[in-house]
Amino acid sequence: DLTVDTVNPGAEISPMLYGAFFEEINHAGDGGLYAELISNRSFEDNPDTLFHWWVEETGGSTGKLSLSDSGLLNEVQTRAMAITVTAAAEGGAVSAVNNGYWGIAVTEGASYRLNFYARPEPGEELPLRITLESADGKQIYAEQVVSVLKEGWNQYSYTLISSGTAANARIVFSASRAGTLYLDMVSLFPETWKGRENGLRIDLAGKVAAMKPSFVRFPGGCFVEGKTPLDAYRWKTTIGPVESRPGHSAYWNYRSSDGLGFHEYLQWAEDLQAEPLYVAYIGISHDGDPIAKANTVPLAEIQPWIQDVLDAIEYANGPVTGEWGALRAANGHPEPFQLKYVEIGNENNFQLSEYAQRYGLFYQAIKDKYPDMNIIANTALEGEPIEIIDEHYYESAEWFMNNANRYDTYDRSGPGIYVGEYAVTKGAGEGNLNAAIGEAAFMVGMERNSDIVKMSSYAPLFVNAKDRTWNPDAIVFDSASSYGTPSYHVQQLFGSNKGDVVLPAVLTAAGSADAAVKQSIQGAIGLGSWSTQVEYSDVRVAKGDEVLFEDDFSADSGGWTVKSGSWEQSEGTFRQSSSDIDVRAVAGDASWSDYTLTLRARKTGG
Ligand code: AHR
Repeated sequence: DLTVDTVNPGAEISPMLYGAFFEEINHAGDGGLYAELISNRSFEDNPDTLFHWWVEETGGSTGKLSLSDSGLLNEVQTRAMAITVTAAAEGGAVSAVNNGYWGIAVTEGASYRLNFYARPEPGEELPLRITLESADGKQIYAEQVVSVLKEGWNQYSYTLISSGTAANARIVFSASRAGTLYLDMVSLFPETWKGRENGLRIDLAGKVAAMKPSFVRFPGGCFVEGKTPLDAYRWKTTIGPVESRPGHSAYWNYRSSDGLGFHEYLQWAEDLQAEPLYVAYIGISHDGDPIAKANTVPLAEIQPWIQDVLDAIEYANGPVTGEWGALRAANGHPEPFQLKYVEIGNENNFQLSEYAQRYGLFYQAIKDKYPDMNIIANTALEGEPIEIIDEHYYESAEWFMNNANRYDTYDRSGPGIYVGEYAVTKGAGEGNLNAAIGEAAFMVGMERNSDIVKMSSYAPLFVNAKDRTWNPDAIVFDSASSYGTPSYHVQQLFGSNKGDVVLPAVLTAAGSADAAVKQSIQGAIGLGSWSTQVEYSDVRVAKGDEVLFEDDFSADSGGWTVKSGSWEQSEGTFRQSSSDIDVRAVAGDASWSDYTLTLRARKTGG
């Protein structure tokens, strides 16, 4: 029985309650949401090896691929790829092949934007042929020929229309004449979400949009911090033309191209009509003490990082007459992005003493310049101004269910709560229904307490099935397809059905220990006295709740009593302790053999 009080509403539900957490983990961005189809497109992934590219010699021609570090495209690029034909045979070629992120997905009739920079060795007249092909090279889906490469570095842009559909196509750059040519920033994009240049993969962005997130947190996660300051997130190197973004070695064991950069995150949030939430690096690397100590930017050198956050805000919000606002305009967005949420550090409560020394410095600098900025802290800190605390939970389904009442008792005069990362990870495999139900129970608790729980985001959002670094995740994909785990569907359900206000409700529900009781009694029952054991493992009560136990036989027996033994009441789960349930016949038919007994635990008064 459900009783809903529609007359005296409870807390208003925060309009920011359900958001999305994005981190470059599991190839969520590169090889995922960021729609680029070529991996290691600017040959920076490894200074010594041509990752993801290989050579093929056909028709009697011979040659090689190599990494070149001279005559580069610009000052940011440290490598280009050289294709050298040492012996050219009639009809033969030396080719550089790339199959993207575990296969390039192409669809018949769809168009693909190809961009690359090429340079021939001075004085050489070299043609280049580009083909989109099946994995075995037997089918050509699209072809483009450059009859002669122009002198020096030039950008070449074409639209390829695929004549076939495949999840694992490859792109091939073939040189047929003897000589050497150089390639850099080789890019192939399908149509993107909302048609944005340098944009997002349609199915994946669409799944996030269906969650109707009220905010997007970016860019992490540990990705913000890196393992050392060298691979921390530096937003300034992630904006502007993609060929001038160096990319960086990142926390989750692969290099980030940063094609999905600070500007693209802000644009994505805007396109979702969601608030952007930027998590800033504060000079603390992720891996805990004592490693992090060695990998921490000394406090005396922290000022540039404080300035870095201020510049990030200025880039997002500042006038076009200012340095950073002008750059935003030059990058195609003169209007401010209206960044209103900044988090100081990610999970730096793991390095509490360092965090305590830094938080106030960042907080004050931001507030001095942007008094309206909502600032999120990683934890509560004595004596510091704390507006919202980011809590992270990766636990079992049972933990989440048992914590559905967690926020009932939080101090209402304390800071707001942002449950910034949470997911059932224990016993959840790659995602399952039990995990989703655990999260849903917890979310009901957050929603009921939304006067204090202002924001939340399930994490992580994405996993490429070929790089399952972290399980489970909300959205699973490969090169061509994607699906939501049960947890995704819970997020989508809650996000797209968020209420305005909590209506106090009292649920009188049956415990689901019925099945266990039936099993142990059926067939054994007769006149007399029996014992059975039952655990009401899913009857959740809070301290002080009153619980009634009732019996209910499938036939009207006349007079039976079910006597409970000693019950142990604790916060969370209600369990029978050691004693049996005593089922006693006080009247009735001596030949009973197949009646069933249902025990109900009824919570009253709360
Ligand atoms: O969500 C995965 C990771 O969990 C995040 O990078 C980090 O913040 C947390 O430890």
